[in-house]
Amino acid sequence: MYYPDEIVEEIRMKNDIVDVVSGYVKMQKKGSSYFGLCPFHNEKSPSFSVSPGKQMYYCFGCGAGGNVFTFIMEYENFSFQEAIKFLAQRAGVALPEAEYSEEMRKKDSKRARLLEVNKEAAKYFFYQLRSERGKAGYQYLKGRQLSDETIKKFGLGFANMTSNDLVKYLKGKGYEDKLLQEAGLASFDEKFGMHDKFWNRVMFPIQDINHRVIGFGGRVMGDAKPKYLNSPETMVFDKSRNLYGLNIARTARKNNIILCEGYMDVIAMHQAGFSQAVASLGTAFTEGQASLLKRYAQEVILAYDSDGAGVTAALRAIGILKEAGLTGKVLNLEPYKDPDEFIKNKGAQAFEERLGQAENTFFFELRMLQRDYDLKDPESKTRFYREIAKKLCGFPEEVERENYIQAVADKYQIGFQNLRKLVLSYASQTGLAKPVERPKSGIQKKTSPEENRKKSQRLLLTWLVEEPSLYEKIRKYISPEDFTEDLYKKVAVKLFEGLEKGELNPASIISLFTDEEEQRAVAGVFNTRLMELSTKQEREKAFHDIILSVKRNSYEYFSGQLGSDVNALNQVIAGKKALEELSKTHISLD
Ligand code: GTP
Ligand code: MN
Repeated sequence: MYYPDEIVEEIRMKNDIVDVVSGYVKMQKKGSSYFGLCPFHNEKSPSFSVSPGKQMYYCFGCGAGGNVFTFIMEYENFSFQEAIKFLAQRAGVALPEAEYSEEMRKKDSKRARLLEVNKEAAKYFFYQLRSERGKAGYQYLKGRQLSDETIKKFGLGFANMTSNDLVKYLKGKGYEDKLLQEAGLASFDEKFGMHDKFWNRVMFPIQDINHRVIGFGGRVMGDAKPKYLNSPETMVFDKSRNLYGLNIARTARKNNIILCEGYMDVIAMHQAGFSQAVASLGTAFTEGQASLLKRYAQEVILAYDSDGAGVTAALRAIGILKEAGLTGKVLNLEPYKDPDEFIKNKGAQAFEERLGQAENTFFFELRMLQRDYDLKDPESKTRFYREIAKKLCGFPEEVERENYIQAVADKYQIGFQNLRKLVLSYASQTGLAKPVERPKSGIQKKTSPEENRKKSQRLLLTWLVEEPSLYEKIRKYISPEDFTEDLYKKVAVKLFEGLEKGELNPASIISLFTDEEEQRAVAGVFNTRLMELSTKQEREKAFHDIILSVKRNSYEYFSGQLGSDVNALNQVIAGKKALEELSKTHISLD
């Protein structure tokens, strides 16, 4: 559902962000901004700021940021459409009936069609499970002790034995072959024609946070291989940015999220009352998923399988959680394999107790490390202690590090002072880890060319937002075409359009994006603090480097497109000229 840009903008302007946020967060004015405790992560000193000038908010602690719409979406767990309705009502703006602009309709019709066909398929599977032909599936789920209520809640279904059942059904509803293939529901081969991807399996629809079906997992009912068949990634199914069960877990309002590996685990936990459980989608846990979780909880309890693969996966996930600034704990499910089996054997009460005993991730890591050493052998034991000391250097904050040294010393019966000395000696050799830094500024870490490319495009946008007067100086070298990242290009088009007219309105640019992840990314662009470079000379060099890097990348990109893109030749010629000029030109920041 789309509202015209003008209406969205009107609603935004009539809801002053300071007013709106004040209804949720206690804030104090400092300089030109308001500060308060961030509602999106736990903190003791205020790093959440709202700028009346930009009409945006940003948290320097957790990186949450956006305009008044994103704030309401995050705080109230609303979709973009719901936030619009909510704020329209607040400001007394009458909303037109859902209206589609032709352009939007075209752009998003593919996504919408994919979601629609997925929903139809889910309904079909759901219906089959309750029919005569789906009996085997229903009995299988019953055998796994799922109640009718649970089966319904997760929309579980069944794919029949026949090989083109769903295809026939969906074609009958008017969906074309190509769409079914693109949705990953069917494939084509010379011999059999169009046939279903899933057959004779119980079906788990995978939903995004707004309850839209984006893909499926299908399980065999016996021991055949593969045990689970998952939908391929599609335009609407990004496995690294969604989690199974999060559509329900996000409103569980528990103070943690339980992260596990299997769909069945999620379902079993929800059925037992642990509705904060989620699982990754048959692939390893990713940074994107961590930042998604961060919106809903500060603490993540890992409930991975207790076998070797589970432990390895847990150790990896711990690193990702830490990077994202989340606290982690590890659940011990022994002697059972996974949460589902644990609950089946021990019940919800015992599971609750285990949750209470979940182990601090640092101690878990040490315990796993310890398996490689023989503590009866002084030599090996010493090496183990050295490894511990090295790991302790990873705590940048002194109070925290001292607390851990104390705790480790107690636990492993090492003299506190001895361990402390060892840590300090390693620290002096290798340095203590720097606090996890939110991306604040220019190029610091070693990054892949891909990331660097994105980064310089993002930073150039940030510079222009921070210092719009620079636009005059660069407009002859840079155009929105030079932004090869889709998202940044969209932002650049709008930003440059405004800057041409001498206007800067970042909060309105955010509203042009309907996808939550995109909105967050754009909010990040507008709120990144540029590096505190002390001298003008350093700043000028940094800015010059960024422009050069954006231009060079664009030049390389279009050179690669020669032959397939008619526009490329012009870009390449202009790019070459601009690069030559730029390398000789000094751009002053005065
Ligand atoms: P149950 O045996 O039904 O209890 O499965 P589980 O939920 O315990 O799953 P398991 O721990 O075996 O696997 C965890 C997750 O990995 C599953 O939910 C799937 O997403 C994925 N997975 C498992 N087996 C396969 C497979 O054979 N192929 C693919 N692609 N994914 C799998
Ligand atoms: Mn299992």
